[in-house]
Amino acid sequence: MKKTIIITGGAGFIGSHVVRRFLINYPDYLIVNVDKLTYAGNLENLKDVANHPNYRFERADIVDADAIRSIFQKYDVTDVIHLAAESHVDRSIEGPMDFVMTNVVGTVNLLQAAKDAWKGRTGNIFHHVSTDEVYGSLGDEGLFTENTPYDPRSPYSASKASSDHFVMAFYHTYGLPIKMSNCSNNYGSHHFPEKLIPLMIHNIQHKKPLPVYGLGDNIRDWLWVEDHASAIDVIFHTGRIGESYNVGGLNEWTNIELVRFLCQLMDEKLGRSKGESEELITYVTDRAGHDKRYAIDASKLEEELGWTPSITFEEGLSKTVDWYLENQDWVEKVTSGAYQDYYEMMYNKR
Ligand code: NAD
Ligand code: DAU
Repeated sequence: MKKTIIITGGAGFIGSHVVRRFLINYPDYLIVNVDKLTYAGNLENLKDVANHPNYRFERADIVDADAIRSIFQKYDVTDVIHLAAESHVDRSIEGPMDFVMTNVVGTVNLLQAAKDAWKGRTGNIFHHVSTDEVYGSLGDEGLFTENTPYDPRSPYSASKASSDHFVMAFYHTYGLPIKMSNCSNNYGSHHFPEKLIPLMIHNIQHKKPLPVYGLGDNIRDWLWVEDHASAIDVIFHTGRIGESYNVGGLNEWTNIELVRFLCQLMDEKLGRSKGESEELITYVTDRAGHDKRYAIDASKLEEELGWTPSITFEEGLSKTVDWYLENQDWVEKVTSGAYQDYYEMMYNKR
């Protein structure tokens, strides 16, 4: 095998798309998915590639330093693509400590393990997958660039910013060959239905209230998850060591515009009368410290590495809705058990 790559968080939303892409595109790589399988990780997300000869799965917590070291030894790991994280802002507000443990301590464990395993070697890559939320919140104008100062505001973004700083510290202090990417909001298949788009699709389908936080005027910049996976592929293979790259599709929507658009799309797909689903929109108490606007300038990635998004938001959303309507059993499987308690708790708070 040319490379043996640990992909952490491979059973999650974005990680599962990255694992699938690498297995399909790189037949001379061994892919080791390292995942704790929290509420957000599910091997259902990878059942189509579970028997691929170049795929291995290791259930492990990245906070467990011994477990991570022994995986590095067992496979003689050459590279890491690190996606494992606690990823939901609302959960970080309810309880920050899991975010500190996984996102900060877990990341430092991985960095230490890579540094020790790769001592005296060359050609390795530690690609850290991060978020645009580390840059804080924008006003009406401007875009986040790689030089925007970090200004995280939620416990989630503070933990991701901290992990980014550790990644850069390992590069500057120990010369660990790192690359980093900071992406905007993703959407697509296998997205856990606590996040805005899959939650709204689920609630529209089942005629439940559509909880829009505050006035619905917060802005997010949406990117098709497979375009994020293609950006990670390009940065991993051709990005410069020690650099970070912003990833985004210049696709800003206010939350309320987006929810209305989804309502129209699903009214058509479900044969409902025009405007029927919009009646489900319910304005609820705002998220604490709710960042107003995110928007990414991805020109470094586009100009230096030639990456561009592959599809429009309208196409991507239509495919996403179709996937959820066709995979109701997936939604039921991933939302059974502990997730139900969380959902009820958040729902009752509103
Ligand atoms: P997700 O919550 O869907 O998946 C996270 C995965 O990590 C799950 O499979 C989970 O089981 C695993 N995991 C969590 N804690 C772990 C631990 N301690 N040890 C091992 N595995 C653990 O997240 P996602 O939305 O796919 O995000 C993946 C990465 O991309 C995260 O680092 C996130 O910060 C980043 N990111 C996400 C978005 C987005 O819009 N979703 C945008 C930019 C960046
Ligand atoms: O920007 C990248 C980030 O995008 C990632 O780093 C995070 O992991 C990912 O979860 C996402 O964070 P957001 O907080 O932007 O995503 P979320 O889907 O939770 O919310 C999107 C917007 O919709 C946000 O303004 C809050 C709002 N919202 C969300 C939910 C769940 C609602 O109005 N109602 C809801 O029920």
